[in-house]
Amino acid sequence: MPWRAAPGSFSDPYHVWLSEIMLQQTVVATVRPYYAKFLAAYPAIANLAAASVEEVCGHWAGLGYYARARNLHKCARAVAILGDFPRDIAGLRELPGIGPYTANAIGAIAFGLPVLPVDGNIERVAARIFAITTPIPAGKPAIAAAAQAFMADKAAQAAPGDFAQALFDLGATICTPKSPNCLICPWNKHCLAFAQGIAASLPARTKKAERPHRIGTAYALMDADENILLIRRPPRGLLGGMLALPDTPPVAAKWQDAGSIEHVFTHFSLTLNVLVARHKTLPPGALSGPAATASLPSVMRKALDAARRALNHGS
Ligand code: ADE
Repeated sequence: MPWRAAPGSFSDPYHVWLSEIMLQQTVVATVRPYYAKFLAAYPAIANLAAASVEEVCGHWAGLGYYARARNLHKCARAVAILGDFPRDIAGLRELPGIGPYTANAIGAIAFGLPVLPVDGNIERVAARIFAITTPIPAGKPAIAAAAQAFMADKAAQAAPGDFAQALFDLGATICTPKSPNCLICPWNKHCLAFAQGIAASLPARTKKAERPHRIGTAYALMDADENILLIRRPPRGLLGGMLALPDTPPVAAKWQDAGSIEHVFTHFSLTLNVLVARHKTLPPGALSGPAATASLPSVMRKALDAARRALNHGS
């Protein structure tokens, strides 16, 4: 993984921070190209701090959870003012977008502080090693507290960053959520869940409520040059600060049905009905054109594709 340092050396805190923010709720394979793109655009955190939040959100488009992009930019500016990342957990926690997990990840991986960043992987390993059967989410604090016992290990003390990342990898490759490969696990002799034959069932989970479904509308207004009107969404809430198709009609026009698209967000699924119309010119100050459409979140990219298909058929 490109953000990792050679064993025994430390990673740049900027690289650790950037990768850890991107890896929240997002798999390694998805993160790789975004990580490379950000380092190319912003080789140092000062470059990220100097960029506009609109540009940063544009580079983030497609990665989801857009509050992360806004906080990333805020945090870069805070670090620029401080001159560098704080080298202690309390200082890291004060930065925008940095919670207990990320503070510990930066602390351990970039600064060698003896702390454990308990992500979903380490949570699963700990639940199994100690056979903690309390279902999550209620059982999370007890599992995280039990996981702290790992830090008594000599290897953890000697290289907390390598230790944490080795546990991430153990969870990702051997102590996997379904059918863990206990027979080749280097820790199987110490694993209470393995001894009891219940590893695969841990951590237990309280049944999640079903994802609610919502219905919305997006309006695609196209001018004679095939530009489509985009707006910037308000900074807070769903897709906050991102470019989007308007969700109310931007002008009076003959709006026509362009079908609908489906998109799944974490907290709900969405059917978005797309309406299209042609108009000689877009309203003044309109955002449009290829650069803007490259900066669209995935749901809006789908809606734009549906709109273009309908407009190019109907004309
Ligand atoms: N998930 C979160 N941080 C990670 C890291 N440093 N290596 C692998 N997976 C991760």
